[in-house]
Amino acid sequence: MGMLIAFEGIDGTGKSTQVQLLAHFLEEQGFPVVTTYEPTDSEYGRRIRELYKDRSSCTPEEELNLFIEDRRLHVHEFIKPELAAGKIILTDRYYYSTAAYQGAAGMDTGEIFARNSFAPRPSLVLLLTMDPEVSIARIREGRGEELNDFEQLDQLRKVADHFAAFSDPCIARINAAQSPEQVHKDICRTVQERLF
Ligand code: TYD
Repeated sequence: MGMLIAFEGIDGTGKSTQVQLLAHFLEEQGFPVVTTYEPTDSEYGRRIRELYKDRSSCTPEEELNLFIEDRRLHVHEFIKPELAAGKIILTDRYYYSTAAYQGAAGMDTGEIFARNSFAPRPSLVLLLTMDPEVSIARIREGRGEELNDFEQLDQLRKVADHFAAFSDPCIARINAAQSPEQVHKDICRTVQERLF
């Protein structure tokens, strides 16, 4: 059996960079690694990306259903087979994002976790933490991107509060307001301490 490591956190914390850095580090040590992300590129993922532009075009319930159906496909078609093949899977977002973002949108977090019980539990969740003001400034300046509907400051504060409230023992919090090199070092140390 392989191992599942999830990267979580608000937008702008540098998750995708850190996924690639950790993948490289583990590959150099000879581990079989695959990387993936949510929302996926499935039909549901495409509908979710449409939603980024205007969330008011669907209800919070419909939005939650889309993320769950997207994950169901991801688990069935990718995560379970890769775990069975003995891979270390690094996923950029998983069900903690649903609990935090759709929780912030008013859905019940306990119910969200319960509805995700089909999804294998990760061995480790690397929760990248950062002040929402800082993460938003990074998105605006660093990436030169407009903020999408999931990334507005008020909303992101609520999402950060939800992430801060999760207390699952598989969660390790990493201070993402440091240089990418230092964040990577902290992640490597945490992975070695917790998993190897
Ligand atoms: P993101 O990782 O930023 O994807 P991309 O690089 O394609 O923009 O995720 C997109 C947004 O979706 C992000 O703001 C968080 C949100 N999201 C949820 O609201 N619920 C979820 O379950 C997931 C996986 C993501």
